[in-house]
Amino acid sequence: NWSMDDFIDQQIEKIREEVGDKKVLLGLSGGVDSSVVGVLLHKAIGTQLTSIFVDHGLLRKNEADQVMESLKGKFGLNIIKVDAQKRFLDKLEGVTDPEKKRKIIGNEFIQVFNDEASKLDGIDFLAQGTLYTDVIESGTSTAQTIKSHHNVGGLPEDMHFKLIEPLRTLFKDETRELGEKLGIPHDLVWRQPFPGPGLGIRVIGEVTQDKLEIVRDSDWILRDEIKKAGLEEEVWQYFTVLPGIRSVGVMGDGRTYDYTVGIRAVTSIDGMTADFAKIPWDVLQKISVRIVNEVDHVNRIVYDITSKPPATIEWE
Ligand code: XMP
Repeated sequence: NWSMDDFIDQQIEKIREEVGDKKVLLGLSGGVDSSVVGVLLHKAIGTQLTSIFVDHGLLRKNEADQVMESLKGKFGLNIIKVDAQKRFLDKLEGVTDPEKKRKIIGNEFIQVFNDEASKLDGIDFLAQGTLYTDVIESGTSTAQTIKSHHNVGGLPEDMHFKLIEPLRTLFKDETRELGEKLGIPHDLVWRQPFPGPGLGIRVIGEVTQDKLEIVRDSDWILRDEIKKAGLEEEVWQYFTVLPGIRSVGVMGDGRTYDYTVGIRAVTSIDGMTADFAKIPWDVLQKISVRIVNEVDHVNRIVYDITSKPPATIEWE
């Protein structure tokens, strides 16, 4: 008779046995999987775990602080936070192709992680939040599975870590249940999917600091209003994008020539197919009014009413 409590006890015992008095490294992404691994490992081996959290500057508003507050503040994890925003922005300068942006962000992430990891001594193990679905998708059953789409993969060539993947037998919903059992804040456990390249693929075309601010601030308002309307669990994923188009508007006595922000909100089971979410008009109206009033250089809001297929969920 399988229960989550048994699972926790078994895993803790297994981790202790395997790790002994050695040290473990974990890459935290801010998502649920790596957070659950972090808290579970911390429970098992405490200070033998060191976590690295790379802030690539492409996270949502307050996200980095929330991760630090809950995992470091509440649970006492030893987390090295790397502020690498400038590194990423420099690398992204002038790049407009979505796949190139993804590659640059992914590679830079591994670089920053490795740079930090190489400063640490005596690490034997690397922990990863690999889920059962990742194991199946990658088609291997060995410990070599790297969760590349989470950008925490790519073992440093000259470091020979052994992998620890305590979630390998779990599905996403079981991982969330485990997270709740471990006392991880509800908001973090039920966080909507967020792509590894983050806001970098929600600023369409070249990523600049100014454009990131517009996406980050408008996304924050959207999330706030979705929450207030009690729609968080109904809508599977919701965010804003900045297509980079400017158009004419009118404000007071004058004409404006400013940016358009797109709202994307979908219902879905697994992200493979999706329908645009039928958010009530009055909620959309509030979001629209707030974004235009509160975010500089935005004078128009559009709502994406395509489903997947033919559109993808993200715009890039
Ligand atoms: P699309 O846009 O392909 O998105 O319909 C399906 C789901 O995947 C997420 N997504 C990504 N996740 N790295 C990620 O980790 C990526 O490069 C990436 N691109 C899309 C997207 O947010 C949605 O949940």
